[in-house]
Amino acid sequence: RGRAALTQDLAGRRVVVTAGGTREPLDPVRYLGNRSSGKQGYALAAIAAARGARVTLIAGNTELPDPAGVDVVPVGTARQLREAVLKAAVDADAVVMAAAVADFRPAVYMTGKIKKIDGEEPEPVTLVRNPDILAELSADRLRPGQVIVGFAAETDDVLANGRAKLARKGCDLLVVNEVGEHKAFGADRNEAVILATDGTETPVPFGPKEALAETLWDLVAPRLTDRPA
Ligand code: CTP
Ligand code: CA
Repeated sequence: RGRAALTQDLAGRRVVVTAGGTREPLDPVRYLGNRSSGKQGYALAAIAAARGARVTLIAGNTELPDPAGVDVVPVGTARQLREAVLKAAVDADAVVMAAAVADFRPAVYMTGKIKKIDGEEPEPVTLVRNPDILAELSADRLRPGQVIVGFAAETDDVLANGRAKLARKGCDLLVVNEVGEHKAFGADRNEAVILATDGTETPVPFGPKEALAETLWDLVAPRLTDRPA
């Protein structure tokens, strides 16, 4: 942590970090959600700010205190997160998509609460795809030379899945976590491998989410291009 206070390698940079998870409403009292706490994204935002960056943190349904010196934009759904991140990314040197974005949302939002009907089975819930924000950001590069980072939570063949996802999404770096009972979601510590498009693979040992954040910014910083005056 001492190094964070000394390193100002992100001074003059603007970065966007998404954190937490989206919730997709089904009716006024129910939603489809996920178990992301937001801790990793908040650590990324806090460390970037400590290293001198101007940080916009787009936060989906988190219950964490705002990191010092960070501009926090709360969002609920994937579509709201998309709007907020596209707006902030226009002038960003780097965008880190640490949020768990819902892949699907209910096809229809019921404006009245869904009620049980005696003797009847419930209607099935039809889902539709949400936009893939990371793929869109990677394809469009709203600012020339912008560095784009994705996260992936995988099971089974974690590295192979990660390499395929890096290629599919078109981002520059992909942080691959193995998910399991006590790993990644909600925990204070994390273990990961960071894959880069140049083929380098940087293992991050099991440790605090702040340490992973330091390592990720160490990989982002040399990839940033000169900012025109
Ligand atoms: N992501 C996104 N928009 C989505 C879904 C995911 O921007 N609609 C981003 C996440 O923020 C993350 C990355 O994409 O940085 C990978 O998310 P993940 O769920 O692992 O990837 P998917 O392509 O959705 O693949 P899967 O089918 O394995 O869930
Ligand atoms: Ca997904």
